[in-house]
Parts: sequence; C-alpha cells; structure tokens
Amino acid sequence: MRLSTPWCAEIGIRVPVVNAPMGGAAGGRLATAVSRAGGLGMIGMGSAATPAALRGELAELGDRDGVFGIGLVHWVMAERPELLDVALAARPRLLSVSFGDEWSWVARAHEAGVRVTTQVPDVESARRAADAGADVVVARGAEGGGHGRPAMGTLALLAGVLDAVEVPVLAAGGVTSARALAAVLAAGASGAWVGTAFAACTESLTAGDARAELLAGTQTELTSEHDIAAGYRWPADIPERVLRGSPVNAGEGVGLLRRQSGAADVVAQLCEGAAELLGRWTGS
Ligand SMILES: Cc1cc2nc3c(=O)[nH]c(=O)nc-3n(C[C@H](O)[C@H](O)[C@H](O)COP(=O)(O)O)c2cc1C
Repeated sequence: MRLSTPWCAEIGIRVPVVNAPMGGAAGGRLATAVSRAGGLGMIGMGSAATPAALRGELAELGDRDGVFGIGLVHWVMAERPELLDVALAARPRLLSVSFGDEWSWVARAHEAGVRVTTQVPDVESARRAADAGADVVVARGAEGGGHGRPAMGTLALLAGVLDAVEVPVLAAGGVTSARALAAVLAAGASGAWVGTAFAACTESLTAGDARAELLAGTQTELTSEHDIAAGYRWPADIPERVLRGSPVNAGEGVGLLRRQSGAADVVAQLCEGAAELLGRWTGS
C-alpha cells in the first residue's frame, strides 16, 4: 500500500509527513534529509531568528532545487521584516507563519508564487486562516511540543477543523508513532506535521545533551518561564511544551522515542507502520 494523499501530489512530495519548522532544531540539514526521504523538510526560525541565520540554514540545504519549506514566527517576523524577504526569495514549496492573526504576508507570498500555511489551535482560527488565503491549515493540538496555544487536543481539533474548512488540513501534536500517523490520516488529514520525533534525529540542530533528554524523557509540561527569562515577546496565552523540569521542547509523544535515528528512518518507520495499520481496513 502506497501511503500518499492528494495533497502530497499537489505539493510535490511522496509521503504525507512534514517536519515541523522548529527554531533551534530544524535546519537545512534536517530539511534535506526529510525531503530526500519523500516528505517535506522545513527550516524553522524561532524566537531568536535573524535573516543571517535563515540564510545560513538555506545554505545548508543539500539540494538547492529540491523540495523544502520555511517556517517563521509571526511576532518575530514583525520585528525583523527582512525574514519574510529572505524566505520568499528562497522560493520554498511552503511558507508557514504561525502565532499571529495578521495576514498581509499571505498576499506577498502568493504574489511570489509561494503556498502558505499556519498552525491553528481551534476551529475558529482555522476558519480565519482559510478565509485569509491559507492553502493548507495545520491543526496543532495541545499535545504538541514547543509553542502553541493549548486550546484542544489533536484529534478533537483535527475533526473540527476538517469539518470547518475546504482546504487540506495537516495534523500536529503527538505524532511520534506510526499509530498516531495512521489515526490522523484515517480521520482525513492530508498529512502530519511532526516536531518532536524529528527534533531527536541525528540531522537536527538539537544539542547532544538535549537529544539525550528527549530519548529518555516521558513527561512534559507547559511553561512560559523560559521565554520570560530570555525576554522573548511571546503572547501570554502561548506557552511552550517542554520536558518536565527542563527547557527542552517536547510534545506528549516523546516517551515513544527511545533510540537515536536518522530522519530517513523516522519517515520510513512512520509511513511503513501507518500503511500496514491502514491496510488492515482496506484488505490491501
Ligand atoms: C524543539 C521544537 C521547536 C519548535 N519550534 C517552533 C518554531 O520555531 N516555530 C513553529 O512554528 N513551531 C515550532 N515548534 C512547534 C511545531 O511546529 C509543532 O507544532 C509541534 O512540534 C508538533 O507537535 P509534536 O512536537 O508533538 O510533533 C517547535 C516544536 C519543537 C518540538
């Protein structure tokens, strides 16, 4: 059974797996590995993003003409508008700008021929994103690692968003296993937006000690403590999910990651396992 969705063909990838754009974890090397494995590899620019850092990660892409995406944080882009210029000039297959409710960037991206997405925490936000021109919406559940407004769990959110918008929907939050990938695809998602599982990969920018914590950790918690200490201007209702008692970003699926893998292995395990699980229904 081939694991693919119509959105995969639309965007030019083979399997319905996107590596979430994670500041400090998802650089050009990880994006290249995920895209070579058939998914959509994304470069993530987080709270500390600069145009120079984005250029640096773009230079790390192994295939300059390959498929890749870029993810920015809205309030950071508003402070450093050149980030959007650099991102659009790189002609990503998908541009994500999350954690804002201002949409002037959508028209600029579309004029540049770039498809756009954003992560949404509730159904009303999904409608607003679709109305604003998002080509695909990411339903990002409260289980997810890193920042997000923890409004709803992934499955309830995904079901509501799928009913509410016409555009394709990706599911994010807690997808660290083939079972979770199968679940969101069976529900109707066009793909999964996977953070924590790729943050723990060999190709990520995650430091060695933080990776070891990810591979040993099981419990997570929401906090704004580290953002406040760093002076980052995150809205008060957008905390980050971290390993309990640690600043390492991680989603609730972290306990299923027990050994270090390359990104291609993660993609293969997720997709082969999901295809097998879904095949139990179709008899193929
Ligand atoms: C280490 C890490 C860093 C993250 N950084 C960002 C970021 O810079 N921008 C962003 O839009 N989302 C970021 N996220 C959130 C992801 O986009 C996504 O919502 C989340 O990883 C999905 O849940 P999962 O971690 O359970 O797969 C980050 C997540 C992690 C784990």
